[in-house]
Amino acid sequence: MNSRPLDWRVLPDADAVAEAASRIIAAAAVDAIGQRGAFHLVLAGGRTPEAAYRLLAHQGADWDLWEFYFGDERCLPADHAERNSWMAEEVILSQVPLNNSKVHPIPAELGAEVAAEHYARIVAAAAPFDLVLLGVGEDGHTASLFPGQPLNPEALTVAVHEAPKPPPDRVSLGLGALQSSRYLLVLATGAGKRVALGRWQAGEELPITRVCHGQRVTVLLDEAANPAA
Ligand code: 6PG
Repeated sequence: MNSRPLDWRVLPDADAVAEAASRIIAAAAVDAIGQRGAFHLVLAGGRTPEAAYRLLAHQGADWDLWEFYFGDERCLPADHAERNSWMAEEVILSQVPLNNSKVHPIPAELGAEVAAEHYARIVAAAAPFDLVLLGVGEDGHTASLFPGQPLNPEALTVAVHEAPKPPPDRVSLGLGALQSSRYLLVLATGAGKRVALGRWQAGEELPITRVCHGQRVTVLLDEAANPAA
């Protein structure tokens, strides 16, 4: 598979990354809705995307035609403040006029295996996603696909244990689901991400490298995370 060049955009700071991300997502929604009548968006977890979600929530959109999924989830109680779904609910999902049936949290409170099996059925019915938001960890992980763990190119979802980033038990979209998506938007800010981004740019076999290989990818990073800085 030939690798497409990454659309690598260095922006001044985290606010500029958030602003660009919200604009790209809103434009992708208009495009998807115009072409297919709906917008299937996969939200990233962690802290980086929070500012972009807050900006997005204040943009006008055909919200009733948006459908939300999650790239990964931590095996914690559904209302736990460390859940990725809890952050999304707080900063965007509770702020826009959504039909709850169009929000698909990963039921990670059921345990990794049961939740992964359940979510694989939802992903199979929804894929290919129109846009998948991804963060990058300092070790080059993305979603909950961590270095040293096997990557099955067919997997729609993965039950993860012993994750180096707490909590140890998680559920993640698998390589199969991520690589069938129409567009990947990767957000990385802060000096802590610089080494991982440099290893990725150098072609090191990291989860982020594998997920983005051959895909239509835009990477939004700030100067602090820029390995070339
Ligand atoms: C999670 C995320 C994880 C995250 C990266 C970056 O559950 O933590 O899915 O993959 O995107 O670790 O996290 P930050 O955005 O907080 O740096």
